Amino acid sequence: MKKEVNVAILGFGVVGQGTYKVLAENADLIEKRIGARVKVKRIVEINTARYDTPGVPREVFTPDYSDVLNDPDIDIVVEMIGGVELASRFMLQALERGKHVVSSNKAALAVNIRKMNETAKANGCMLRYEASVCGAIPVMNALSTSLSVNNIKSIRGIVNGTSNYILTKMEEEGLAYDVALRQAQENGFAEQDPTGDVEGFDSANKIVLLAAIAYGEYVPPEEVDRTGISGITPADIEAAREKNCRIRLIAGARREDGKLRLSVKPELIPCDDILASVRNEFNGITITGDMSGDIFFYGRGAGSVPTGAAVAGDVAEIAACVARDTHRVAIATSRV
Ligand code: HSE
Repeated sequence: MKKEVNVAILGFGVVGQGTYKVLAENADLIEKRIGARVKVKRIVEINTARYDTPGVPREVFTPDYSDVLNDPDIDIVVEMIGGVELASRFMLQALERGKHVVSSNKAALAVNIRKMNETAKANGCMLRYEASVCGAIPVMNALSTSLSVNNIKSIRGIVNGTSNYILTKMEEEGLAYDVALRQAQENGFAEQDPTGDVEGFDSANKIVLLAAIAYGEYVPPEEVDRTGISGITPADIEAAREKNCRIRLIAGARREDGKLRLSVKPELIPCDDILASVRNEFNGITITGDMSGDIFFYGRGAGSVPTGAAVAGDVAEIAACVARDTHRVAIATSRV
């Protein structure tokens, strides 16, 4: 049994720092639970200002990804650089070198999930991406394990923290759209380019990944019927209130005439619907299975440490397998 499992983090931004914090602060707890020490051996980061982060040894930082690829001791690569092309290339290169991959990058995964799964399988590697959908909420894990005995009837959820934060602040505090968006950016919820959040692209990527696991079918992000929240006005919020409703950006998946349909659009949600009670950066998602019935998941959908906890959970799961030299092929990784 291996006593130490080595990890490399790619990108030390908001989620990278949150992941480091979870792995460092709960290192003893994680070791006790999985029977091996998880060590962050390398952090690949081009912004050298981040090399002075308190509590992180300077020598773990490198600007050069080949330091990770060429290090046979690194077992797990955690990709958090964002974007599609470079991030996808880095993940594929890691898998081709036999390194397991964890990612929170919904944009890259939604486009390339089939290629990633194929490459992971071909190289006997595990690929996990719990944090890419609904931050801290373990919904991907639930779909790929406990709920896998169900035919999924539908998915309906609030899966973007930034847009939900904006809608909540407009409704409850009368904040202007731009002010609420700025607050979401300052809190580290929003993407670098928040267009992805407010125009529904981020939610579209997430429903693609949810549907791939829930239905075993791949629908490309551009085929998601998508409308964002940038056109929502204070008058719309007031009109919703008069109908005893709230406006929420809902990502949905359902079958219509045998075809899997994915959508993202603002909807009027009655105040007594559980989705209306999801406020600020929180996410909530209702999954209906033919056997389990309705299940509601709720929690923090964005933010450094909550999202980092989901990443670290995937790292711990893989590290437990690496330590025992077993390879858990989750149903999740092989459905599309
Ligand atoms: N920008 C995303 C959101 C981050 O607001 O939900 C978490 O995926």
